[in-house]
Amino acid sequence: MKKVRVAIVGANGYTGGEMVRLLAGHPSVELAALTSRQFAGKNITDVFPALRGIIDMPLIELDTSAVARTCDVAFLAVPHTQAMPIAADLVKQGIRVVDYSADFRLKDPEVYEKWYKAPHTEPALIKKSVYGLPELHREEVRRAQLVALPGCYPTGAILALAPAVKYGIIDFNEIVINSMSGVSGAGQTPSSQTHFPEIADNLRAYAVTSHRHTPEIDQELSSVAGKEVHALFTPHLVPANRGILSTVTASMTSETSAANLADLYRTYYKDAPFVRICEPGVYPELRFVRGSNYCDIGLAYDRRTRKLISISALDNICKGAAGQAVQCMNIIFDLPEQSGLRFGGLTP
Ligand SMILES: NC(=O)c1ccc[n+]([C@@H]2O[C@H](COP(=O)([O-])OP(=O)(O)OC[C@H]3O[C@@H](n4cnc5c(N)ncnc54)[C@H](OP(=O)(O)O)[C@@H]3O)[C@@H](O)[C@H]2O)c1
Repeated sequence: MKKVRVAIVGANGYTGGEMVRLLAGHPSVELAALTSRQFAGKNITDVFPALRGIIDMPLIELDTSAVARTCDVAFLAVPHTQAMPIAADLVKQGIRVVDYSADFRLKDPEVYEKWYKAPHTEPALIKKSVYGLPELHREEVRRAQLVALPGCYPTGAILALAPAVKYGIIDFNEIVINSMSGVSGAGQTPSSQTHFPEIADNLRAYAVTSHRHTPEIDQELSSVAGKEVHALFTPHLVPANRGILSTVTASMTSETSAANLADLYRTYYKDAPFVRICEPGVYPELRFVRGSNYCDIGLAYDRRTRKLISISALDNICKGAAGQAVQCMNIIFDLPEQSGLRFGGLTP
């Protein structure tokens, strides 16, 4: 069978490197181009020695014409604003594009410009893009020429809430999302906020009331609800490398139990191989999902306050980015959805 030929733009970054790790072991993929500006001419194993003996490929400068000529799909693991022109160029040349950045996630370019404080230069392309969360948009992903991968926080938050929103069992005005993320979520460029002495042995909330993933969470939950939803989202940085744990609370519209909630969520996710609903009384932990494409969800009902508690855990670089990208690629090219992703978390 003909293999899917893949280009990874930004292969030397955290999510690009994870993509190389995942695709090097994918049975239906041939890695055709790995690009980097800083490391062009070096081998991918010079940047990621963990890949020695598995792959031997040079990093090259991006040439969009060559990528379009030789590849079936390009993954853009580059910062927001940088993906826009590259995606436009590649889409015009007819190949599939999966973008990791925020450039095509928000359906309203004005909302993008407000939250990202940058002009949107390709508003017409937004209409062509599909929000790449297969658990909500599997059939649209299958047909999409441009997939906008969700942010890492929104993946965990939306999966923790979608069934409750869909079945209307919570008050849409009372949703609170508290997420805790490992530091790799900020990418590989160090900053004073992510420097080891600043974050080791420390905890902090950041971007309170202003995190850029907020409108994305609202957009997708509103689409599931069929009416406007505004969630209060507060991210926290924790001294871990990978992983996001989100604790979501919302007022219930009627009495329930953890067992009922687990049944409801299992029904909603019956065709979603990467969502694992925990047994009542069991809650997700980062170590069970780290390095894997799973999102674990644990549910509780607090009778005293009549609140739903939904806790999700995922690996920000895998299910939050590169693993989700592989899952979308599998769907687009009619491969088994779990192909190349059949492994659990790294524990201990
Ligand atoms: N880290 C996460 O957990 C996570 C999760 C979900 C989504 N994302 C999103 O995924 C994207 C990549 O994130 P990351 O964490 O992997 O970032 P990163 O570690 O900082 O890597 C960024 C990559 O982009 C390349 N790059 C930058 N500007 C470029 C340009 N104009 N043209 C071509 N390549 C360019 C860089 O390589 P050169 O400078 O060598 O070209 C580098 O390889 C971002 O949009 C981010 O928001 C990240």
